[in-house]
Amino acid sequence: MTAKILDGKLIAQQMRAEIKAAADELKARGVTPGLGVLLVGDNPASRSYVTAKEKALAEAGMYSEEVRLPATASQDEILGVVRVFNANPLIHGILVQLPLPDSKMEAAVIEAIDPAKDVDGFHPVSVGKMMLGLPTFLPCTPHGILHILKRSGYTTDGAHVVVVGRSNIVGRPLVNMLSLKNALGNATVTMCHTRTKDVGHFTRQADIVIAAAGKPNTITADMVREGAVVIDVGVNRISDPATKTGYRLVGDVDFAPVAAKAAAITPVPGGVGPMTITMLLFNTLESARRVAGG
Ligand code: GUN
Repeated sequence: MTAKILDGKLIAQQMRAEIKAAADELKARGVTPGLGVLLVGDNPASRSYVTAKEKALAEAGMYSEEVRLPATASQDEILGVVRVFNANPLIHGILVQLPLPDSKMEAAVIEAIDPAKDVDGFHPVSVGKMMLGLPTFLPCTPHGILHILKRSGYTTDGAHVVVVGRSNIVGRPLVNMLSLKNALGNATVTMCHTRTKDVGHFTRQADIVIAAAGKPNTITADMVREGAVVIDVGVNRISDPATKTGYRLVGDVDFAPVAAKAAAITPVPGGVGPMTITMLLFNTLESARRVAGG
């Protein structure tokens, strides 16, 4: 079997056109969706994510405001920026790019974000609501993955989905969302992680494998059954002197051999990444809509 390539870039373009049309309607009613972005330090990957997010916001006709702080910024300085964003009526969503240079600050910084502006869906209030299936902002990468599957015609209903990775940003929320009794859920879910004894034992039983481990070649061809759907969340920079930048991006999946076996697979880049940004636009629009009433 040769896998169909699930073109996240194309699905993202379609969704962004829908979001832009809705944003234009809201603007005609006097509300421009706005996002406050805080970047602390100069991690190159974080810098390029933030640039891509701001470009997408501008293309959707949304407003964005960026604050950059040095890697040495204190927790109080970071909290100060979050509080200014919380109080600013032009800002409907707040994005603090993670990881922070000092990861010990992350919990306090996330908790300082007004849950009404938590378009990342990382605040404990948002996470609790997500887990209970209550209306809330859903975290962008897991939500984007569920939309790739849905728009590509692969249902999670009754499927066995194996998620490899247990991060707060992807694996853990994904497992919760997939287990909910709703149109994007209804899956039988298995979670594997770094302490799982034999990951392949589980992934070989999966209808859908989602690799979110943050490590190249986590999923090799022997770990995937013929005809499975494979979603690759990994974005790993590996050095490649032949490229202009000196590196190239690879996912967590050993792409070519797995693609020869799978029914469908997301590429890296051009798979999950563009959908993450799209769901950020979606949540920012939704937050502005709530403010505008309706
Ligand atoms: N770092 C990696 N992914 C994300 C994300 O979705 N949001 C934020 N704020 N930081 C991230």
